[in-house]
Amino acid sequence: MSPWKQLWVTKPVETETAGNELNRTLGPFALTALGIGAIVGTGIFVLTGVAAANNAGPALAVSFVIAGFVCGMAALCYAEFAAMIPVAGSAYSYSYATLGELIAWFIGWNLVLEYLVSISAVAAGWSGYVVSLLKHVGLVIPAAFANAPLAKGTGAFSIVATGDVINLPAIFIVLAITVLCYVGIKHSSAVNFWIVIVKLTVIFLFIVFGLHYIVPQNWHPFVPHRVCSIAGATGEMCRPGRYGWMGVFEGAAIIFFAYIGFDAVSTAAQEAKNPKRDMPIGIIASLLIATALYIVVSLVLTGIVSYTRLNVPNPVSFGIEQVPALRRWLVPLIDIGALAGLSSVILVMVIGQPRIFYAMAKDGLLPPAFGKVHPRYQTPHISTVITGVAAAIGAGLLPIDILAELTNIGTLLAFLVVCIAVLVLRYTRPDLPRPFRTPWPWVTCTVGAFGCVVLILSLPHDTWWRAIIWTLVGLVIYFAYGIRHSQLGQAHGAGGKPGRTP
Ligand code: ALA
Repeated sequence: MSPWKQLWVTKPVETETAGNELNRTLGPFALTALGIGAIVGTGIFVLTGVAAANNAGPALAVSFVIAGFVCGMAALCYAEFAAMIPVAGSAYSYSYATLGELIAWFIGWNLVLEYLVSISAVAAGWSGYVVSLLKHVGLVIPAAFANAPLAKGTGAFSIVATGDVINLPAIFIVLAITVLCYVGIKHSSAVNFWIVIVKLTVIFLFIVFGLHYIVPQNWHPFVPHRVCSIAGATGEMCRPGRYGWMGVFEGAAIIFFAYIGFDAVSTAAQEAKNPKRDMPIGIIASLLIATALYIVVSLVLTGIVSYTRLNVPNPVSFGIEQVPALRRWLVPLIDIGALAGLSSVILVMVIGQPRIFYAMAKDGLLPPAFGKVHPRYQTPHISTVITGVAAAIGAGLLPIDILAELTNIGTLLAFLVVCIAVLVLRYTRPDLPRPFRTPWPWVTCTVGAFGCVVLILSLPHDTWWRAIIWTLVGLVIYFAYGIRHSQLGQAHGAGGKPGRTP
């Protein structure tokens, strides 16, 4: 097979599903909890305030509906794949089975942006909450050791030094959770389950008590008028700017981060007891629960405090702080719930990333060390350590906005390819048993793919450039290593090494 043909070679679905070295311990509740554990975190506890104050105003609830709708379409596509190809590699494995090796590499490499970079982003949010909580009990962490030394500059594509040294709490939480994931998914999913209970309870308390203190005037105007930030710019199309319907879409592109994670359920497919039934349940149930919570929380939050005041690191507890009757007892509870919520997101992402590395290494696209499984704990331990160390470095050095935007673009690209891949496989392999079928695939997949493109276009241009550079680095690695060591390529006698028997 010529190298050109190898770029487009697909891995038979039957090969994807053969064999399993991982431990099957997860049922539908654990999988749904895994989804909620990954979904509900920084998006709701940190980014809601930023997106309401800077982009959408009270119409943030509409941004949540838009982003939730796009994710819903993608979730239906993920559910079809996860039930049909229940393997650890998620979108990477699905694209290998449908669109060929090069696209699979591209998606696998972009999933690193989603999982690994989001660990760093959420850890940066965790650091902010823990610093404020510790301050209440008299422990002060010096700012220079609790903030990133790098930040976005004012010019396009510029990064500046902040004068701070390193974000130590962020590094601490990433490494602590990495140790937990090293010793096994069974223990990690039990911990996740309890964390999910804590954060859901806190969100319910916020909704139930906050409802009584809504001031309807705070919702007027529901979609604030567009304000252009460039002198002389006029009309609805000005960019960069704030509010208006364009702001609602920009808000959707930012709070899209809040939905990331339902697909992490699919990375645990090889550890599910009954993946054909439980994968669709875990993916769809966790997304539905999160969407409902987000819409209600954003309405209550913008109802109890004016959106103009919400650009703070802790908008949910800040909202309650404005209500004297609730402030005393509910604020500390919300802070603790937020810390729990952010910890479980980090946990699920630290579980997910090594499983994608594992799948890529098994295919020969990454060195074999990434695919090694611990003989006692049955976890991809080397990949887990590599993930933890790399994410800790990102969390220690980079600011949350750059990390969150990068996460969003990597995830949107993966969702886009999954939506297209479902349609492709319906035509190339109509014979395959599909325990779950995406309803009206032409509509669902097309609308899902279109929605992903709209959200990608709504992200800042800097983010596109960072994603392009990331992709180029990935291509260099693929052509220097992956193409020569690909199991599929070698089985067909291609690449730089002698052919091997399949
Ligand atoms: N959806 C996850 C969060 O909001 C990544 O933290």
